[in-house]
Amino acid sequence: MARRQLNRPSADLSLDRHLRLADQLPETLTSQALFGNDLPLELEIGSGKGLFLATASANRPGHNLLGVEISHAYAMHAAGRLAKQASSNAMMVSGDAEPLLEKSIPAESLAAVHIYFPDPWWKKKHKKRRVINPSSVRNLYRLLVDQGTFHFWTDVLEYFESSIEMISVEVPEFGPPIPEEPESEGVDAPRDESGGTYRTHFDRRSLLHRIPVYRVCYVKQTRRS
Ligand SMILES: C[S@@+](CC[C@H](N)C(=O)[O-])C[C@H]1O[C@@H](n2cnc3c(N)ncnc32)[C@H](O)[C@@H]1O
Repeated sequence: MARRQLNRPSADLSLDRHLRLADQLPETLTSQALFGNDLPLELEIGSGKGLFLATASANRPGHNLLGVEISHAYAMHAAGRLAKQASSNAMMVSGDAEPLLEKSIPAESLAAVHIYFPDPWWKKKHKKRRVINPSSVRNLYRLLVDQGTFHFWTDVLEYFESSIEMISVEVPEFGPPIPEEPESEGVDAPRDESGGTYRTHFDRRSLLHRIPVYRVCYVKQTRRS
């Protein structure tokens, strides 16, 4: 993704409570290990500038939110946003989400997983780098609690359609995806001049340029009627 230079968080803002490097993490990632309580834990993969984490953590004080961002500059930027609003229930990890899904997060421990506008990796030979891939979706299903949700939004139709198809083959237990409304983050979601809400920086850009966004949510239901 082509990126502009990011402002670093100001030097007098401590990121100690809001930023962890992957090699500083506890062996097992739980609410207790990260936040010292047992609140339901939500994970965002690819937090970018951290807008969703900042909004969702303020809207849901009864949940903890963990963001993972592979670009250290963006992880710092997002952590700076959380530090500025003195968030006590959100934190950024600077690193790759995939090994954390594979090894560090216990099964049936996540209340929700959020992936918004993942990098499309257009070229055929690069598609294996996509964060939504057969191994990650199998892991996501394993890590969610019963009734846990997986939110996937993108403006890339081919990524959307091929992911939906791939999930139906790899994790048929998820069942069909449920279309999700842009407004579903609630009344405190950021809003632009036209009155439309947005969840992330890329969502805001899509709204501004009237680019269609494809939004779905999967619900893990271990007991289907
Ligand atoms: C297109 S941006 C979208 C950012 C944000 N979700 C939004 O909607 O504004 C995708 C983000 O995912 C991050 N990313 C890509 N692969 C990742 C991985 N394996 N683990 C964590 N973050 C990743 C990228 O660095 C980038 O910041």
